Parts: sequence; C-alpha cells; structure tokens
Amino acid sequence: MLIKNALIFINNKAVPKDILIENEKITKIQDEISAEFNKDNLIIYANGKYALPGIIDPHTHMRDPGLTYKEDFITGSMACAKGGITTFLDMPNTIPNVTTKEELLKKKENSKNRSFVDYGFYFGGSKLDNSNEVKKTIHISVATKIFMNVSTGNMLVEDDKVLQNIFENSKLVAVHAEGKMVKKAIEISEKTNTSLYLCHLSTEEEIEYLRDAKAKKLKVYGEVTPHHLFLNKDNLKDNPLLVMKPQLKTKADNNALWKAINEGIIDTIGTDHAPHTLEEKKKNLIYGIPGVENSLELMLQAVKEKKLDIETLKRLMSENPSKIFNLKGKGSLKIGYDADIVLVNLNVNEKIDSTNIISKCNWTPYKGFNKGGNIITTIVRGNVVFNNGKFNEFKIGKEVI
Ligand code: DOR
Ligand code: ZN
Ligand code: ZN
Repeated sequence: MLIKNALIFINNKAVPKDILIENEKITKIQDEISAEFNKDNLIIYANGKYALPGIIDPHTHMRDPGLTYKEDFITGSMACAKGGITTFLDMPNTIPNVTTKEELLKKKENSKNRSFVDYGFYFGGSKLDNSNEVKKTIHISVATKIFMNVSTGNMLVEDDKVLQNIFENSKLVAVHAEGKMVKKAIEISEKTNTSLYLCHLSTEEEIEYLRDAKAKKLKVYGEVTPHHLFLNKDNLKDNPLLVMKPQLKTKADNNALWKAINEGIIDTIGTDHAPHTLEEKKKNLIYGIPGVENSLELMLQAVKEKKLDIETLKRLMSENPSKIFNLKGKGSLKIGYDADIVLVNLNVNEKIDSTNIISKCNWTPYKGFNKGGNIITTIVRGNVVFNNGKFNEFKIGKEVI
C-alpha cells in the first residue's frame, strides 16, 4: 500500500510525505515514493489529510464475555476503528472475572477473528489472592489490574498482604485507585519494586502524588481520561447520565489535569470506555460512560484550542501507551513499525452528534462538543478497517501479546 501526500507532524510542523507499507509495516517515509515500489497496487490519496500514528487506548471495558448486551468485541472494536483507535487494552471485570489463567485463555479464544483492530488483555487481581495465577499469566497479559476502590463489578482488593503479593508477582500493575489510595499504590509499588500505572487520575491531589513519585524516579505512570479533562460537576447537573468512577470533579481539577499534561507529568490518555445501556443508566446508579468514538476528536479540538500541542497528543495517545505496555512495533509513524495509521481531516467545523453511534450503548456524553477533526481512514497493520464512515468486512485485529 502506498499513501500519497499525507501531512505528517514533525516537531509540531505538518510536512507532506508519502508512506510505503509492505507486509503490514511502514517501510519508507519520503517526500515522494514512486508507485513502482508499491507491489499491491493499492494507493490512498491522502491529499490534505493528516496522518497520525494509530491511537492506542490503554483502558477499555468491552464487556465480552458476560455483558454483551452492553458491548461486545465486534461492536467495541468497530467503535475503536471509527474513533481512530488501532489498539485497545481490555479490562478484566467481564463476567466471569478474568482472575484465573483458564478464564484469560477462554477470553483470548473467544476474541479470535472478532476484532476490527488490535487488542490486549489485562489480568485481574482478586481479593482471594490469586498471585499464583498472576504469575502464570504474566507473559500472556499486558498488566495486572487491581481495583483498590469500589467500582463496577465486584473486584475490590483491600487486604494489604494480598495487594503486596499481587504486586510482587506482576510485571506491571494498573490500579483503579482514588485519593489516598493513589498514595498507597505508589508506596506498594516502591516497596515491591513493581512498575505502576495509575488509571484515570482526576484530582489535583492525585496529580501531586504522581508528581512526587516521578521526582523520586519511581516507575510510576499516570493516565487521564477525556471525561475528567472535558467534563466536571457542572455538566452532571445538566446530564444525570454522567456518573462514573472516579466521579467528575471540579473545574479547578480539570485545569490541574491540563497543567499536568503540559508539564509532562501525565503519560497517557485512556478513555475508560465503560458502556452501559441508556435504560440501565436511567434506572439505576450505574458507573461508566462510553469514550472510544470521541477521544481523538476531542483531543484534536484541544490541540486547536492550544490546550496541548500535537506532539504531546501523539505521545499521550500512541507512543507512551506502546512503551508502558511494551507493545512492540506500535505507537509511532516510523520505518519498521506496524502500519497503524489514522488519516484525519483537521479542517472541520463540526460538532459531535448522536447519530451513527457504533457502540451498543448507543449514546455519547459529548453531544454538541466541537470536533477538532474528522476521522476519515483507520489502518491497522496496513489494512484499511474503516474508511469514509464504512467498515471493511474482515476482522483482522490480532492480540498484541
Ligand atoms: O465508571 C466506571 N465504570 N469505572 C470503573 O472503574 C469501571 C467501569 C465499568 O466497568 O463500568
Ligand atoms: Zn477504574
Ligand atoms: Zn475502567
């Protein structure tokens, strides 16, 4: 495949380049590449569109197996493709919970040939101390996920000894920790010398814990979600659907997160895509909102509004997730890397609407928000999976581990 005339960003400047893709990899990026190098005769004329590295979403809940009326692997991965996400990492609070090797293997088997984009799985820590299972699955999962606060699903782990055992047997631990629990997670990470990924930081206090950990050169990484950047308690007054864990915070917290992004304290953007149906959301207090279809559109709008620059976006949404989760060959537009590419039109003046939603939950928290770009084409390892609003039939997504 040859992509002609795509604008790629180099040090925040857009430069037109041709990109050659052979055997799923980027093999040349040059001012001009002759069509004779292109063996499969597929040419994409990107004229005027920007090529970004495919987005890697390190935090999704695809609900498969067990809760597939909310989302399944097919719809969840299609929603990703539509949002420019070429790899997603899936959380273990599916049913049954992924807390044994057997369940992880079943989930892997069940996902085969059912994803439009690439993906990886977390393994879940359990209050019953499953550190043996953690150890057994270390090479076939992206990280161990521990819920240190109450959230959707019944996966809370509170006992200090159990937490420590799980950390000790993990290569990387991702935590749902809020407030003081963030501090505690950092302490266990330091004590056990285990890398730590702090999911969805949402307050100034939590940012300060991360800042201190980084100052001490600990192997601690921080994620923020689009909803904690773009929404706050005021939005909840207008829209009671906006309940999730961690809850929306204040405008001052929004600002603290943006500041931390620009100071290099935050490592990734993860959506925490947590689809629930509208019926459920209206009837019960149920935590979670969808995210994968809009995260890139929203972050591109933030670039337009100069809340961050495009290089930072690329780092937070592609490069860093690849590095932290060791997703080899992913996360950058570079020779030898997987041809995971998203082509976007940045010259748009449109708003997010609630038509054509792919996620089974069929709603968006961002209706009426400005879009910083339109996602035109999503390419996974050289395969066009989404183009001009349409999906290709084949499900070529593969597991990253
Ligand atoms: O709001 C949330 N929803 N937070 C979580 O931690 C889990 C998620 C879910 O699975 O619905
Ligand atoms: Zn969480
Ligand atoms: Zn989550």
